[in-house]
Amino acid sequence: MCRSPALRDLRPVRFAGRPSSSKPRLNAFARLAPMRVQSPRNATLHLAGVGLSLRTSRNNPEYTNPRELVDVDTTIELAHSIVGRYERLGVDPKGKRVLELGPGRDLSTGAVLLHHGAASYRAIDLFDNRTDDSRPLYAALDAQYGRTLDPDALAFSLVTFPDLPEVTEQYDVIVSHATLEHIPELPRVFAALRRVAAPGAIFVHHVDGMTHTRLLRERDPLNFLRYSDAVWERIARYPGVPNRLRGGEYVDIAREAGWRDVAVHGEYVASRAYLERVTPSLAPRFRGRDDLDLLTFNLVAHA
Ligand SMILES: C[S@@+](CC[C@H](N)C(=O)[O-])C[C@H]1O[C@@H](n2cnc3c(N)ncnc32)[C@H](O)[C@@H]1O
Repeated sequence: MCRSPALRDLRPVRFAGRPSSSKPRLNAFARLAPMRVQSPRNATLHLAGVGLSLRTSRNNPEYTNPRELVDVDTTIELAHSIVGRYERLGVDPKGKRVLELGPGRDLSTGAVLLHHGAASYRAIDLFDNRTDDSRPLYAALDAQYGRTLDPDALAFSLVTFPDLPEVTEQYDVIVSHATLEHIPELPRVFAALRRVAAPGAIFVHHVDGMTHTRLLRERDPLNFLRYSDAVWERIARYPGVPNRLRGGEYVDIAREAGWRDVAVHGEYVASRAYLERVTPSLAPRFRGRDDLDLLTFNLVAHA
């Protein structure tokens, strides 16, 4: 991911507090256009977000995976970096039963976790984004680790969100990468995952809390918070639309679902200058929050 003046360098930030509630501030145009435009630049970004969201809604009646198809080496590098992050955050896969949500195009993270000693791996999803043949990918990983995985060890199933009734086994490690921000009914999903968590299970999720509109990600990462819920529901109508939850809300939802030692660790953090510029133009419910700087972050908890 490249950098922009809106983003600060990677910096570990721990946020475990409850965000302060937002105070709605209405202006004269609130009914017509629920936005608070502070400058021509903010107005342009506001309108750009509307146009691009409408375009995405029109062009994507079905779920499309935003991760581009890339070559085997790049995919393996990505899988190593995802698993490396899980491990830095406390996941030790050895002998553990792993459940992953939303694996995306392939099960390469599962293959790496199994090569790192996981006892089992199962991926669940609402959509099946898997490409037709990932055998060269798994073969390349087997070659790297010098052992051949049983292809049946990479289990995948479509399940019913948000209550996951098809998931009945217990898991020691529950992970996801760039998936939770796409799930609308997270309280029920977190409760369902708590139900299948073995005693002491670890829960680690990397969340991309930035706008998913590619053209605006670097320039205006919180663009999608500019709109009231009513406007957002009208302009962003596509499967997998981001839920707009902030770091502190993930903490609250996880605690409410019975997870303990819940914390978020920030990765990409918004600069103060960007936050000062954008905050007055956000929808009222987001303006008073103290976790707006967390653009991408990791949620970590235990059963
Ligand atoms: C951006 S992809 C991430 C894939 C992979 N983990 C990665 O990092 O490349 C998002 C994943 O979330 C899943 N997803 C999207 N909308 C969902 C929803 N409403 N409920 C459950 N999963 C969803 C998709 O099927 C996909 O696997």
